[in-house]
Amino acid sequence: MKAPKTLFVCQECGSQAPKWMGRCVDCGAWNSFVEERVAEAVPAAAGASRYTPGGLAATARLYEDVDVASAMRLSTGIDEFDRVLGGGIVPGSLVLLGGEPGIGKSTLLLQAAARFAETCGPVLYSSGEESEHQVKLRGERLGLGRAPLYLLSETCLERILEEVARIRPALVIVDSVQTVFSLKLQSAPGSIGQVREAATQLLFAAKGQNIPVFLVGHVTKDGSLAGPKALEHIVDTVLYFEGEHHHAHRIVRAVKNRFGAVSELGVFEMTGSGLHPVPNPSALFLAERPAATPGSAVVCCLEGSRPILVEVQALVSTSSFGNARRTAIGIDVNRVSLLLAVLEKRAGLALLGEDVFVNVAGGITVDEPAADLGVAAAVASSFRNRPVSTGTAVFGEVGLGGEIRAITQASRRVREAAQMGFTRCLLPKGNIDTHEPGADGGCQGGASTPAATPGCQGCQLIGVRTIGEALDLLFN
Ligand code: TYD
Ligand code: MG
Repeated sequence: MKAPKTLFVCQECGSQAPKWMGRCVDCGAWNSFVEERVAEAVPAAAGASRYTPGGLAATARLYEDVDVASAMRLSTGIDEFDRVLGGGIVPGSLVLLGGEPGIGKSTLLLQAAARFAETCGPVLYSSGEESEHQVKLRGERLGLGRAPLYLLSETCLERILEEVARIRPALVIVDSVQTVFSLKLQSAPGSIGQVREAATQLLFAAKGQNIPVFLVGHVTKDGSLAGPKALEHIVDTVLYFEGEHHHAHRIVRAVKNRFGAVSELGVFEMTGSGLHPVPNPSALFLAERPAATPGSAVVCCLEGSRPILVEVQALVSTSSFGNARRTAIGIDVNRVSLLLAVLEKRAGLALLGEDVFVNVAGGITVDEPAADLGVAAAVASSFRNRPVSTGTAVFGEVGLGGEIRAITQASRRVREAAQMGFTRCLLPKGNIDTHEPGADGGCQGGASTPAATPGCQGCQLIGVRTIGEALDLLFN
């Protein structure tokens, strides 16, 4: 068989070379050459369009005529997973599940595959990392039920596609796209060229046969491994597995979704028998909150469409070095520095000579401005050595002038806080003022003076305009 022709193409400037080079001679970029397959020239028959490979000509269709039934969702049988996917699997979609090695990607997909197979039809689980035997051992541990689940231990892309054509599964899972290689390229499995080729071919299979495909991709701490990042624009949905190895819970977050909300998240707990969904994450993240301890504040964040209460902890202690340290875990350290400066300048807290450590409890990452007020409250609480009352939740964006700015979807956050038994909520005054009564099921406060609002199950809403006002209300 004639070896397929490939070329190395610089990803920066498009310059081509027959061999790999460390540095592009044209643009000077380092390590930018990726192997690509040269498309074979198809002699165009007279009159035939060369844009219709395989004769499947796409014709423009009227908006009204497009069938939306094809956008139905198939359930994975795991509610939390369906939620991240935007309500279930869309037929013909290509989903990338990225995450560090050992975080639980294979476990989750195997569980989902078995559940899916029970209701929706055969599933092909192709693993390039584990033998069928190993996958089965894991399955026994997970207590999988009887279902038409096909296991394939294969790394050759063409073989996988053959099996897809033979079995005609309702779902295909390729466990780790980094192990798959195409015979059409000469570079090693895991190289950008191979990973991209595999994803593209699986994309054609997914769209052509209307089979949803899940790809697993490993990322390292610095995201350096070729793969997931290079694929993000090819696939329809990108999910990332987050979590610390020494915490039992895992978070699956949608960072791109053509069929649903982004930053939607699903929370799972890793147990001896696999991943179990956590239907009420707020309870999980607040479970170990110390009562009446200075330096802790509860913030109501919105992750995708879901409000979650998280505890922000701060520790302020006198620095013994010239430069005070500022450390943040689970939140952007620059944001923390900014808030410390606002506290210093606008609320008169002398933090200059203090080391400040901020941590979001439970290993979750918060990147919403609504958490600002929580960070400020936790820092002030630790600095003044006075606890924030246990029944109080806070949220709001802090501006550089010390003003508390309105944030989105305040009523959903308040409702979550009320459900979790919080009796008082400090929120931006702007949110109370602009709230349309009854727009989403009550929760209006309507006054900056503390007033119990029955619409929120007895959660009192207190609107604040400035950081100084917020700290006064919290600690006086
Ligand atoms: P795995 O799904 O193999 O990770 P990945 O595919 O992302 O590399 O998960 C491996 C980890 O999960 C491993 O450290 C053991 C743990 N684990 C459990 O704690 N309980 C279980 O039931 C299973 C199957 C795995
Ligand atoms: Mg794995």
